[in-house]
Amino acid sequence: MLSIVTLISGRGSNFEAIFKTAQKEHWPVKFAGVIANHSAAKGLDFARSQGIPAFAIEHREHSTRESFDAALIEKIDELGANLVVLAGFMRILTPEFIRHFEGRLINIHPALLPAFPGLHTHERALEAGVAEHGATVHFVTEGVDEGPIICQASVPVLPGDDADSLAARVLAAEHQIYPRAVKWFLDGRLRIEGNQVQVQPPESQLIKL
Ligand code: GAR
Repeated sequence: MLSIVTLISGRGSNFEAIFKTAQKEHWPVKFAGVIANHSAAKGLDFARSQGIPAFAIEHREHSTRESFDAALIEKIDELGANLVVLAGFMRILTPEFIRHFEGRLINIHPALLPAFPGLHTHERALEAGVAEHGATVHFVTEGVDEGPIICQASVPVLPGDDADSLAARVLAAEHQIYPRAVKWFLDGRLRIEGNQVQVQPPESQLIKL
């Protein structure tokens, strides 16, 4: 059975969506652990309530990014991970970390990449006046918010939207695509070719909501 380790920094609603879908659909998968970079991360409570091992590795206790990431690698390897899921993990990862988990490290970003990498995506989408916004699940490579795209969900930007209303619409879309992308990975359906991801057999890699 394949194992997933999830990294979070906050409320962990994407992890919850993945976990609940896995339960509902009886995925043969082990949720080996959830790790946060600080103990106040709310998502740790949900993990514990489900009997999933949950840990905080305090980034503030590490004087360098390298030392924090080395501690993370050690814990993830100890838990045994076929797939590492970044679900609102707000730390920049070192090249060593990314190389260690290459091909089995995925992230969700709240924008239609390559548009709006980085922070404050909803505010920036509103400022730019785009008609569509959304979310992207992608394999992680060394560039921040780069890497082969597994799937995307687009949502309309509506008149009267503010960053909160847009974020809520995007988050609902995230909760649809992240479980789908994880399942594709677990089912061995993803092929990375250059900077592109093929799903086999083919299935739409874009949901329009
Ligand atoms: C989500 O919107 C996710 O896309 C974003 O953080 C939020 C976490 O929510 N991730 C990033 O911005 C990564 N750069 P959650 O903790 O409820 O899943």
